[in-house]
Parts: sequence; C-alpha cells; structure tokens
Amino acid sequence: MSTATPAAGHRHAAKVAGAVAVRAEQVGKVFAGRGGDVVALQDVSMSVAPGEFVSLIGPSGCGKSTLLRLVADLDAPTSGSLEVFGRTADAARRAQDYGIAFQSAGLLPWRTVRGNVELPLELHGANRRLRRARADELLALVGLADFVQSYPHQLSGGMQQRVAIARALAESPSLLLMDEPFGALDEMTREHMQTELLRICAETRAAVIFVTHSVPEAAYLSDRVVVMSPRPGRVQEIVDVGLGEAFRREAALREDEAFFRAVTRVREALHGVEPASRAAAGDTEEPTAGWHDDGPAVDLNADEPAAQRNGEPTVGPNGERPVEPNGEPPVGPNGERTAGRSPGTPAAAPGAER
Ligand SMILES: Nc1ncnc2c1ncn2[C@@H]1O[C@H](COP(=O)(O)OP(=O)(O)OP(=O)(O)O)[C@@H](O)[C@H]1O
Ligand SMILES: [Mg+2]
Repeated sequence: MSTATPAAGHRHAAKVAGAVAVRAEQVGKVFAGRGGDVVALQDVSMSVAPGEFVSLIGPSGCGKSTLLRLVADLDAPTSGSLEVFGRTADAARRAQDYGIAFQSAGLLPWRTVRGNVELPLELHGANRRLRRARADELLALVGLADFVQSYPHQLSGGMQQRVAIARALAESPSLLLMDEPFGALDEMTREHMQTELLRICAETRAAVIFVTHSVPEAAYLSDRVVVMSPRPGRVQEIVDVGLGEAFRREAALREDEAFFRAVTRVREALHGVEPASRAAAGDTEEPTAGWHDDGPAVDLNADEPAAQRNGEPTVGPNGERPVEPNGEPPVGPNGERTAGRSPGTPAAAPGAER
C-alpha cells in the first residue's frame, strides 16, 4: 500500500533482515491462582513466516488467546522464548510491528468510523492530513468508504468488525493478530469477511495469526493450521493446508474438492485421527502430504498423547464449542479474565499504553 506513515517506513527498515515473523520456542505460560497454578501453555514451539497466514484452532481453554496475547506482549511467558521479526515481543510492540483485532470490535462509540481508524495514528503523532488519508484509504479497502462519518452504533456487527480490521491495519503492521474476529458474524457476512481478509492480506502482505473455532474457516484462510490440545495447551499437530498461497485464494475455492479435503485434514487433526487411519479411510493423498511442517523451529509434539484420544471433548466439526471437561466456565474469547486490559479496545493498541 502506498500511504504508510513515515514512522511505518522507519519501522520496517529497523526490522531484523530475514527474520521470521514469529518464532515461539518451548513457550510456557503458568497462571498462578488461589486454587493452584493453571498451566495454560506448555512447550509451544511454532513459527510464522513473513506474509504467512497461520490459524490456531483447538478446544476452549487450550491457550489460543493466551498465546496470541504473549505474541502481542500483552502478557509475558513464564518459560521459553518468543521473537517477533527477530526481536522481543516487547520491542516489536514498541515498533508497532503488529495490529490487533479481537472478537468484539472494541470501537469508541463517541468517535466516527474515520476517527476510530485514525486513533492509533493519532496516538503515535501522525499529522492530521496523513491520518485522514490513511484512514480513508483503509476504509475504502474494507468497503466502508461511504461510512467514514458514521458512528459505530449506526453500523452492523460485520461493518464494525471491518472498522476494527481497518484500525488494526492503520500502521501498516507486518503482523496481524486476530482472535476470533468473525465469531459473532452470521455465516454469509463471515464468508464475505474471510474473502475480504484474504484480499487485504494480498495487498498488505502482512503475516497473520488467526484464532478460530471454525474448521472450514481455518482451512479456507490459512497456509498452515496449528492444532492445539487442551490443558496444558500444546501444539498437537501443524497441518499444511496445501491449497496454494492463502492470499491468492478466491471464493470459488469453497466449492472445490481440494478445499473439502483440506477441511477433512484439519478436522481429523483436531480429533486426533492418525494419518494412517486417514489413509485407510480412503484419503488418497500422498501419505505425507500436509502432515509435516517445513518451517523453522516447529515442534509437532508428535509423541505427546492427544487429549482428544483420551476421550476429552473437542471442538465440533463446525466449530461448536465443547463444555469444559471439569465444568469450569469457559474463558472468554479474549481471555477477559486478565484484569483491566481488553486487547480489543484502542487503549490496548500496540504501543498505546504501558
Ligand atoms: N489471566 C488469567 N488468569 C488465570 N488463568 C487464565 C488467565 N487467562 C487465561 N487463563 C487460563 O488459561 C487457560 C487458557 O485460556 P485461553 O483464554 O488462552 O484459552 P482459549 O484457547 O483462548 O479458549 P477459548 O477458545 O474459550 O477462547 C484457561 O485454562 C484459562 O482458565
Ligand atoms: Mg480465546
């Protein structure tokens, strides 16, 4: 895109050349509580290449939001290491390497649509003319050119979500972190937003980490899908979707046999079905296709017993959420239990506080 702010240009120049977008090595996160410690993540190793679209999928409470929050430097790991473009998550946050869009759009109701998108730029000192040009460009990109002067309450949920995505893109982030951003949308709007998101990715070439409970959504959007197992959250398997580069996909792919096969592969990985049984069940693909991650520093934890194989509930084929095995109330999609900081709100935009 053409109207990156001067700050954005400087920032990209400062990135470590050749660095992967995100590299997590043996990342662990333990929450200490009165009732004992909760191991939210254990030995999570994964990587995301620049421009790559990676989804996180797994049962409620398996640590997807926690992992995203660690990458966003909204919280710190208790073990292991995390790099964003070759630097610490903290340094990446200061450099505004990423934009965040979470499930609730988190728009400021007293600001216009344009004012909401301008906010991160305003916070970082971009002048009025630049802010307006950038906001209007992004709002056109997400199909809201006619609504720049509207207020959030005058928009539908899907339109508000698009404003949130435009806001997340405001500073030309090289990495987009999205936590169930389309969770509240009806199926048609959701499909439309998925197509839009890929189009935006094609233009911006941002890497994306996208949390979802929907298997078809993960398959349609992603280059790779990281399937996580429940507490302690681990990487159970990484599925290479194998549908060509994600950002080049078109809506017609949804009716393609190759897409159905990809959905099946992700679903089976989620349910812990072994590749061999898949072959026996008539999956005629190369036995190894899609089951190995070629990216750097990926730990498949292949020898770990998948919790689903032990009869624990998992996410349903259409992304429906299971009841927590121990009857605990599920954690909100944005990990709301973390007091005081709602990452979907502008106040928590990278670099906007702390
Ligand atoms: N701030 C916190 N304090 C204590 N425990 C937490 C906190 N945030 C998350 N947890 C715990 O960490 C685990 C993972 O939570 P997380 O929100 O990352 O799950 P999730 O995979 O995003 O779930 P969902 O699909 O329901 O959004 C849960 O057991 C949760 O109770
Ligand atoms: Mg969550």
